[in-house]
Amino acid sequence: METSKRSGCDASVLLSDTASFTGEQGAAPNAGSIRGMNVIDNIKAQVEAVCTQTVSCADILAVAARDSVVTLGGPSWTVPLGRRDSTMASLSLANSDLPPPSFDVANLTANFAAKGLSVTDMVALSGAHTIGQAQCQNFRDRLYNETNIDTAFATSLKANCPRPTGSGDSSLALLDTTTPNAFDNAYYRNLMSQKGLLHSDQVLINDGRTAGLVRTYSSGSAQFNRDFRAAMVRMGNISPLTGTQGQVRLSCSRVN
Ligand code: HEM
Repeated sequence: METSKRSGCDASVLLSDTASFTGEQGAAPNAGSIRGMNVIDNIKAQVEAVCTQTVSCADILAVAARDSVVTLGGPSWTVPLGRRDSTMASLSLANSDLPPPSFDVANLTANFAAKGLSVTDMVALSGAHTIGQAQCQNFRDRLYNETNIDTAFATSLKANCPRPTGSGDSSLALLDTTTPNAFDNAYYRNLMSQKGLLHSDQVLINDGRTAGLVRTYSSGSAQFNRDFRAAMVRMGNISPLTGTQGQVRLSCSRVN
């Protein structure tokens, strides 16, 4: 069994806490946010029933991410397969390597570069915020302290995200209020009208390195779709376990 861990696509996030390690689901960037584990468990059970211990949880996550995007009307791509699953999790790596929503473009760029991802990858992957939700505690500072936010948009959000820390911390708001259930380029159009929910979203139009890409993606989906699918393949290739490394878990939430 491995004794050290890199952060990468090894399904470590799916592991529950055990006596020998604290899992990653309670890490600060994941707190209150990791959900849908039952969906993965359900897929895994069906795959195991047909072909036991052959398809890793890491590969299931990568395919499920692609299929979710396709189902919501986004681009499709071929997912390289053969990842294996970790035998451990690392709370400290989850805390140190995942970017927080307080990051500016310089921090975001460095964070993605540390994983071999470019500025284009970073701007295109941020477009995944065309779906899903965020907790008040992750956008409260932007609502009350920032000026590059549409006034009506901020006012409507403040109702469910009051100012004092501690009240309504986990109330949810849509990351893309325009077309929340479609995988499209509305996220970038929202940024152009100062309706980005997270600080780390809205900053993408403040910086010359990223503003041009946001403008291009906001004006049509073709370039966004091309860049997003390429970036998803690159992100899915971050430090996978291969060959005889790790294992193929029988249940995604625990090691064999
Ligand atoms: C650029 C750096 C990124 C930052 C700072 C960031 C930050 C966040 C935050 C704070 C949330 C809300 C979590 C919560 O409040 O529970 C969130 C949600 C989400 N993020 Fe990101 N994210 C980033 C990149 C990405 C990437 C690369 C993807 C995938 C390609 C992604 C996909 C999502 C999705 C789908 C949700 C919604 C989850 C849900 O509704 O359960 N994000 N992100």
